Amino acid sequence: MKRIFVLETLNRIGEEVLLKGWVHVRRNMGKMIFIELRDRTGIIQVVFHPGNPEALAAAADLRSEYVVAIRGKVNARPEKQVQANQPLGTVEFEALELTVLNAAKTPPFELNADTSAVDEELRLKYRYLDLRSERMRKNTELRFKVTKFFRDFLEQKGFFEIETPILTKGTPEGSREYLVPSRLHAGKFYVLPQSPQQFKQLLMVAGMERYFQVARCFRDEDQRGDRQPEFTQLDMEMSFVDEEDVISLVEEMLIKLVETVSPEKKILQKPFPRLSYAEAMEKYGNDKPDVRVNKDDPNELAFCWIVDFPLFEKSESEGRLVSAHHPFTAPRDDQKELLATAPEKVIAKAYDIVLNGYEIGGGSIRIHDRETQNKIFQILGLADDEIVERFGHMLEAFEYGAPPHGGIAPGIDRVAMILAGEPNIREVITFPKTGDARDPMMGAPSPLPEVQLQEAHILALAPKEKKG
Ligand code: AMO
Repeated sequence: MKRIFVLETLNRIGEEVLLKGWVHVRRNMGKMIFIELRDRTGIIQVVFHPGNPEALAAAADLRSEYVVAIRGKVNARPEKQVQANQPLGTVEFEALELTVLNAAKTPPFELNADTSAVDEELRLKYRYLDLRSERMRKNTELRFKVTKFFRDFLEQKGFFEIETPILTKGTPEGSREYLVPSRLHAGKFYVLPQSPQQFKQLLMVAGMERYFQVARCFRDEDQRGDRQPEFTQLDMEMSFVDEEDVISLVEEMLIKLVETVSPEKKILQKPFPRLSYAEAMEKYGNDKPDVRVNKDDPNELAFCWIVDFPLFEKSESEGRLVSAHHPFTAPRDDQKELLATAPEKVIAKAYDIVLNGYEIGGGSIRIHDRETQNKIFQILGLADDEIVERFGHMLEAFEYGAPPHGGIAPGIDRVAMILAGEPNIREVITFPKTGDARDPMMGAPSPLPEVQLQEAHILALAPKEKKG
């Protein structure tokens, strides 16, 4: 007999079917045994009657999380026993034959309750159990729906999804990079991309016109609730566009996303309000203001755009100008003269999209000519030979018919976190890292055998003694 999902029993009343899944809860009720059987689609109550003594006897040995196959009959519950608040509360499964497919140890924490109160180190060590809990399964599904929606939407708008390398050379976006030593080229390194920024621009030079990617990005920075060392962006780039084109496309996409995957949510203001960076700083003291009216309403979504960012900001530690977004961002057309005289005053063609106080995406129109790009690198304090060494490929590409282009990258983790109503992005990442960038389940990072280090030409230093 072919196994069906428990949710399918709703359409199979009166029929004999085969279910497979996990024992969610077991209850001995004197002469009968009840279990709740769980699979990915839901939970159904199973009854072992004395009328089927063999199955009943076998059920006596069941424990939580045992993996079982049960052949049985789907019965409608008598009206009095209907549990209207349960998706499968109108049916019950009468067990005829039970097979234990695998036993299970008692899990280190309860899986039939919300696991958010459980020690997170323990949850992450046993993530494969944590993910069995209903909330985590729902979050996993929601995230899938979010990425699927983005893919479908952008395909309809004529975008190609294109993969770009993970082993690459760095794009400075303000964070420390993860390094990968090269075995074949002693003393040389790849770095993991902070974002596919340079590749997506080069794809515009390549004439792809509309690109997107569900792109894994890597940043070795201090962790917070909305930051992980690896995270996922919906990276996008378009040719022959201005700020308005990017903003209106992304706005349409986000509104349709909410309508499709979270119809219970209400967007406070459409079109999304726009604030200049200066206004946001003056009114809210930050550039990702939470403009909700009722912060206690879990269904309220308040999007806003922040525009007119400065092109540069002063690095407090180094006392020099650094890019406010990244060095490929174009200055506004009316500001080009200021570049030479007062670069710190130049306004950029950059925009951030903010939702409920989180920056969920950032982007800009890019520079597409060699001269302006070179000037920006000079203002950032790079010497001419350094510019050529690090970014020569971009400057050269701009000389082969680079179209005007621009893009944006919404962070998928943050979007999913807010739609799921979760307080941090770890709840919507299947296998996240801890606050200090470890994976307690895999035991990463870990030391490596000497031979492996030698092959990669690495001489590992003893870790520094921790102070205090
Ligand atoms: P930016 O650096 O603003 O832009 O990143 C875009 C979006 O990615 C998300 N994000 C993160 N999410 C989780 N953990 C992190 N550590 C993390 N860092 C960033 C945020 C953020 O808004 N190349 C540009 C995009 C462009 O210009 O097109 C870029 O990466 O939601």
